[in-house]
Amino acid sequence: MRKKPVTGEYFLIFRATALNLSAACAIVLAMVDTQHPDEAPCSNAGAERKAPEPCTIVIFGASGDLTARKLIPALYHLCKDKMMPPTFRIVGFARREKTDESWRQELRAALDQFSRSKPVDETVWKDFAANVFYCRGDLADAAAYNKLEEMLTSFGSGPLRENLLFYLATQPSQFGQVVEELHRASLLHKDGVGWQRIVVEKPFGHDLASAHALNNELTRYAHESQVCRIDHYLGKETVANILMFRFSNSIFEKLWNRNSVDHVQITISETLGVGERGGYYEEAGALRDMAQNHMLQVLSLIAMEPPVSLEAESVRDEKVKLLKSIRPLAPADVAKQVVRGQYFAGAVNGQPRPGYRQETKVKTDSNVETYVAIKLFIDNWRWSGVPFYLRTGKNLPMSASEVRIQFRPTPNVLFAAQCGNHLDANALTLRLQPNEGISLRFNGKVPGMSLGVRPVRMHFSYDAEFGAYTPEAYERLLLEAIAGDATLFIRRDEVETAWQIVDSIRAGWQGKALTNREFYAAGTWGPIAADDLLAQLGHAWHEPLVIK
Ligand SMILES: NC(=O)c1ccc[n+]([C@@H]2O[C@H](COP(=O)([O-])OP(=O)(O)OC[C@H]3O[C@@H](n4cnc5c(N)ncnc54)[C@H](OP(=O)(O)O)[C@@H]3O)[C@@H](O)[C@H]2O)c1
Repeated sequence: MRKKPVTGEYFLIFRATALNLSAACAIVLAMVDTQHPDEAPCSNAGAERKAPEPCTIVIFGASGDLTARKLIPALYHLCKDKMMPPTFRIVGFARREKTDESWRQELRAALDQFSRSKPVDETVWKDFAANVFYCRGDLADAAAYNKLEEMLTSFGSGPLRENLLFYLATQPSQFGQVVEELHRASLLHKDGVGWQRIVVEKPFGHDLASAHALNNELTRYAHESQVCRIDHYLGKETVANILMFRFSNSIFEKLWNRNSVDHVQITISETLGVGERGGYYEEAGALRDMAQNHMLQVLSLIAMEPPVSLEAESVRDEKVKLLKSIRPLAPADVAKQVVRGQYFAGAVNGQPRPGYRQETKVKTDSNVETYVAIKLFIDNWRWSGVPFYLRTGKNLPMSASEVRIQFRPTPNVLFAAQCGNHLDANALTLRLQPNEGISLRFNGKVPGMSLGVRPVRMHFSYDAEFGAYTPEAYERLLLEAIAGDATLFIRRDEVETAWQIVDSIRAGWQGKALTNREFYAAGTWGPIAADDLLAQLGHAWHEPLVIK
């Protein structure tokens, strides 16, 4: 059901098609809450989509958390929405003792818990489960891959044996060995019959050198085009919409540059602390865990030049060009442009939280950052001189991801008497999650005899416009991996350029302990030093928008 516009606010509806980067889409503006015939989508990406070819999906790490929480629910929903190939098989591979039937039962229980639509549809589940099989084996055991090969061959000599998607939901240290064994067992070829693709999860390396080594391992037995590096952020509807929004709306396209934009803020905040993941986090930190992937991905979509087409390579070429245009950070720049932070004990929304150094598996004198704020400059024609502020952190007051494009203020002439220096500058906010949508902030006259001016907002909300249905990121990513569309996956040079940026920041931190201005209480918006970072240029952080 459609929600009513919020009282006292201007309500603007942007209509968008199903968002698929490989299909042309339209976003049409309308000031009404009913669909006019002119507002029909210019392309229905779902209807035009070619059915993917029959294939087998092999999940390494089949008994793990990712498989139960994300992969199987995503595959089930693709099946339910009739997006899977006409025939398919799913094979799980792990060490634990299971039969096909016992794995199916476990997956069914996981689906009851993690499916985005409940209850599970019994008819769909029955069809789906009949295509699910389990292969017990150790990733280090060559014989296990022979057994896998026999199982795949038992599906017939056609596409179910030749078209293979290998999902590596295991530790990155195991990727090289899996790829080598798959090749040895005649399951993975650079060229040959059918297609084979490898899907790998983040973290993709822990620095440039390790990412480079991992890339070499993966491409020893597969072409770069066969490797799908996942950043689940790219599967989100709202992230996919960034390109559609930018390049299908001339009114915003014209403003998207240094002449109109004062600065940009990208925030990815989490209310959770590290919890049980202290061991992992001690090796990662906020910079590697969030900035290297999600934040730089969002930045590149926000700031890249228009691609020559929506083909994967055109889009990825522009993203890489953008990342390469980021002004390099020498250690002295890191001190001025990057702030790290670590939470101490506090409370998030009334819930007490321990300090990071008191978390399980965390060193009591750890200097690992649970927060990072970065000021970047993009040295190209479009963005010269415009600061891009990125921040992410744990135990912050709100879980939200958003991009705020802050426009330049108007000359302070006409309204100086009413507002002094404080006439609000326009801002456009892309709300990636929650409250997915877009808001435009501008000034309006306060009704009455006086000349009062105050900021008001126009909101577009996905829920209000399209209803609650939004596919999970993994559904889109799995579908694109099966279809062989690489747009949503990260190319080798992209991941390596992102690591170069992150490595330069880490080099600036080398041997330096956190200072007092870099600690923050759990439940606050980060360390004071992060406010100082923006104050240098007269800016201030904006809290993510809450749309009621
Ligand atoms: N969970 C998430 O939401 C998430 C999100 C993003 C990225 N990731 C990444 O995805 C990967 C998997 O994560 P996860 O959370 O699912 O991990 P997990 O719960 O620890 O599962 C690991 C899986 O790998 C299997 N495995 C480990 N060693 C093996 C071996 N020698 N031979 C065969 N199978 C082996 C385990 O099965 P057996 O013990 O039965 O062998 C298990 O199925 C990790 O790299 C993680 O960083 C996970």
